[in-house]
Amino acid sequence: MIQSTPITFALPKGRLAEQAIEILEQCGIDCAPLKLETRKLVLSDGVGKFRFIFVKPADVPTYVERGAADLGVVGKDTLLEENKDVYEPLDLKFGACRMCVAGFPGFSTAELSRNLRVATKYAAFARAYYQRKGIGVDIIKLNGSVELGPVIGLSDVIVDIVESGKTLEANGLCVLEEICPISARLVVNKVSLKTKSADILPLIEKIKGIV
Ligand code: PRP
Repeated sequence: MIQSTPITFALPKGRLAEQAIEILEQCGIDCAPLKLETRKLVLSDGVGKFRFIFVKPADVPTYVERGAADLGVVGKDTLLEENKDVYEPLDLKFGACRMCVAGFPGFSTAELSRNLRVATKYAAFARAYYQRKGIGVDIIKLNGSVELGPVIGLSDVIVDIVESGKTLEANGLCVLEEICPISARLVVNKVSLKTKSADILPLIEKIKGIV
């Protein structure tokens, strides 16, 4: 039965989108409209049961926390940084990488007589990480190409995700510390999980069976 209020799914633009759509298709959702070349930001599945919004990855937790989206797909790196109040019922297993501290080989904080300069897209996460370690830091927030930090002398190290390691290698850097594994997660709005449980719970089960 098609209900009047569609289930809204927030999908991250970029590297995780394709695999997220693949999983939804395997759940039997008609995702053909999502593959068309369009500038539209709100798209429906074939039967109008689902509505999809494409947003910047960092905004997925915000849409889901506030209930503007019932569900979302987002990297664990983004969840760690954004720290929003959402359910995170499933590790989707794709988009696997590692959150790391990286810098020039042999770099050691022991030699520093000032705060460690850390360039990162994950400012809140990196600050909390070094606070737990009791290391004084100067966090330098960047929005991309973070590896440039040590290379150009802007920072001593970076805190960033490492997937293949090729970007580090190409820039003469290496992993200094592995912080935690990262992968894509399914997130759910806490109220939606109760009020739309008849639709959302079976979908979570289906996705669980696939991943
Ligand atoms: C990410 C990340 C690293 C790179 C790691 O950047 O911030 O720079 O990928 O991947 P690798 O280990 O396979 O080389 P992204 O490609 O998202 O671009 P950005 O630098 O604009 O953030």
